[in-house]
Amino acid sequence: MNFNVNSQLHSSQRSIQPRQQLFRQVYDLLLEKLAKKEWREHEKLPSVRILAEELGIHRLTVLKAYQLLKETGRIYVKEKSGYYVLPEKQREGHIRTNVDAQRSDPSTERPVQPHSFSQALVDPALLPNRYFSEYAKKVFDLYPKVLSTYSSVQGDEELRSVLCRLFAQTHQLHLTADDLLITTGAQQAIDIIARAFVQRGDVVLIERPTYHAAITIFEGCGARLIPVDIHPDGYDLPHLETLMRQHEPRMFYINPTFHNPTGYTVPVQQRKLLAELAEQYQCLIAEDDSFRDIYFGEAPPPPVASYDTDGWVIYIRSFSKYAAPGLRVAAVCVQPPRMNLLLQYKYQMDNGAPLLNQKVFLLYLASERLTGHLEKLRIALEIRKKAMEEELRAADWTWESPQGGLSLWVRLPAEGPSAEELLRRSAEHGIVFSPGNVHDPMRELRDYIRLSYSFVNEAEIQVGIRRLVESANLSPTTGIVRSSERIPGS
Ligand SMILES: Cc1ncc(COP(=O)(O)O)c(C=O)c1O
Repeated sequence: MNFNVNSQLHSSQRSIQPRQQLFRQVYDLLLEKLAKKEWREHEKLPSVRILAEELGIHRLTVLKAYQLLKETGRIYVKEKSGYYVLPEKQREGHIRTNVDAQRSDPSTERPVQPHSFSQALVDPALLPNRYFSEYAKKVFDLYPKVLSTYSSVQGDEELRSVLCRLFAQTHQLHLTADDLLITTGAQQAIDIIARAFVQRGDVVLIERPTYHAAITIFEGCGARLIPVDIHPDGYDLPHLETLMRQHEPRMFYINPTFHNPTGYTVPVQQRKLLAELAEQYQCLIAEDDSFRDIYFGEAPPPPVASYDTDGWVIYIRSFSKYAAPGLRVAAVCVQPPRMNLLLQYKYQMDNGAPLLNQKVFLLYLASERLTGHLEKLRIALEIRKKAMEEELRAADWTWESPQGGLSLWVRLPAEGPSAEELLRRSAEHGIVFSPGNVHDPMRELRDYIRLSYSFVNEAEIQVGIRRLVESANLSPTTGIVRSSERIPGS
């Protein structure tokens, strides 16, 4: 089919300048054509490359428009083939697609809530499942004894070498394979680091709010936790220095890039100073970099570890969030002799991560498919983030729009229900989220909630957030919506 939208697009382009708006324009045009049935059901749409050339725009803009059409249930994607028109009948079931796909897959053990904003996980439909299944088959041809061999405790050397090259190219981290330990996810990495370096009674600085499992892990080691507030513009460094001087902490656990739960990123100027403070006060920094590649604008600044000259920063890098959570592959970078201590604990824990998982991940990483996958994933997640923000504008709640990561950290107004009360009410309507106190080492922050936009699709976000806002406006005694009109379908 001759896709001739140039003149329409270019005439409307005159009034719309920012590139961010352009994909909406392409989306609207495609939508119009779909409504006019210019393509038949199941017909293939022009490829991203051809359409971009035809329109004289960037491929990412077309990709973004296609992703939005996919999110709104107008088209579907066939991997390695392209985008196709979704028949009208199937569109009705679209809202439920993710949930149903999960339910019908016996390998998925997690119970899925209909509108789950509680899981800072990427929607499985957005992950490169097909490629991984290909590699899972191929791995037995390439490594016939993969299941009859243990991995070394430190992890597969081939994988460590590929990761070293990746870290050198992308983060100016110059390491050798000996400086890397492969762990079963970042959570295990934090656990091993805590066991290896923190003794009962040691002071550990921890961001407030933070990744909830980290609180449990450090508490489990008997550490005395001292919170360090994280703000949209990073930490209060003079205060941090005072804490280091007064309390001589053993460690500071940080997640400075698209931080969970806030999405904040510590600015580049603070990163170098943090590495210097760690060295000056001999306080180890455990830098958890689990969300680095999920950014919507500029790539984030280099890790704090890249400024470390004396081995005080331990770098944790997980690929669970945006490649394959099921493989549980993460890496810890640390200089010797600290590596020896980590190896002892890794040996005690499981004697090395499963070799099969490491080899499958290695094939994916070495194929360079990760780059293409991430481009698409960023677009899909940004669309979801914007959809959530759009719906939230109906409420007088506040948040800092994150430039990456998986969630919004939202403050509720003082006069409304607390986070826990809101959760109780919204759960009755099938809406769940993570209340602020779960992320607080002080177990406070009751007026904050973490809403993840990554797990459910755009249509589910729209319905779910409307219901959530409505739950906040319900009077607890009467069940009557206090402000705004009733939300249809809730
Ligand atoms: C900051 C942070 N670190 C680590 C993890 C766990 O990562 P993994 O799945 O690799 O264990 C999470 C998961 O939510 C996280 O948010």
